[in-house]
Amino acid sequence: MSLFITFEGGEGGGKSVQAKALYRKLSKMDVPVLLTHEPGGTPFGRRIGRWLKWAQDTDISPLTELMLFNASRAQLVAEVIKPALKSGRVVISDRYADSTTVYQGYGRGLDLAMVKAVNKAATQGLTPDLTVLLDAPVEVCFARKGTEKRDRFEQEAVAFHNKVREGYLKLASEEPQRWLVVDASQSKAKIAEIIWQRVSRLLASQGG
Ligand code: TMP
Repeated sequence: MSLFITFEGGEGGGKSVQAKALYRKLSKMDVPVLLTHEPGGTPFGRRIGRWLKWAQDTDISPLTELMLFNASRAQLVAEVIKPALKSGRVVISDRYADSTTVYQGYGRGLDLAMVKAVNKAATQGLTPDLTVLLDAPVEVCFARKGTEKRDRFEQEAVAFHNKVREGYLKLASEEPQRWLVVDASQSKAKIAEIIWQRVSRLLASQGG
C-alpha cells in the first residue's frame, strides 16, 4: 500500500491542523505514515523556505520564487517522499506543487504552462492520489490568523489572496477526482470527519 495525500489552501484555512490530525489518526491505527511540509521537509528545503517567507530588503522575482519553491520540492521528493512511498507508507504533505501553480501562477501571474512544466520536472511527475482543499473566503481566513507576524505572502493584498483562492477552485474543478474541496468555515471536527470519509475509502480500496 502507498498513498500520497496533499493539503492545500490559503492562509488561515486550517490545513496544517487537519494534516496533523490525519497523521495522528493514521499513526494511532498503526498505519505507516509520514507527515511533511512545503516549503521545507529537508534541511536544504527549510533554509530555502525561510528565505522565501521572511527575506527582507530583497526583491525576489516571481520567476525566482518558482525556481526556489521547486528546488526545495525536488529535494523533498527525491530524499523523502519517493522513498517513503516506495517503502509502503502513506505520505501526507502540507502543501505541494499545486501551491506553486496557484501562488506563482494565478497569484503572481507567471505563465501557467511554464509553471506546470517546472513543477513536473521537480516532482519527477509524481502527483498526489488525493488533494484536500480547505476553502473559505479570504476575509474569514485572515480574521482567524489574528495579529501574528505576517510573512511575505501573508503581507500581500486581499486581491492577491483572492486570485490564489480562485486558482485553487479552478484546479479542483479541472480534476474533481483528485481534489476534495472542504468548506473551511465548518468546525475542525466536522472537517476532519469529511476528510476521514474519503481517506478511509481510499485505504480500503488499497486493501489497507
Ligand atoms: P506556510 O508554511 O504557512 O504554509 O507558508 C508557506 C507560504 O509560501 C504560503 O504563503 C504559501 C507560499 N507558497 C508559495 O507561494 N508557493 C509554493 O510553492 C509553496 C509551497 C508555498
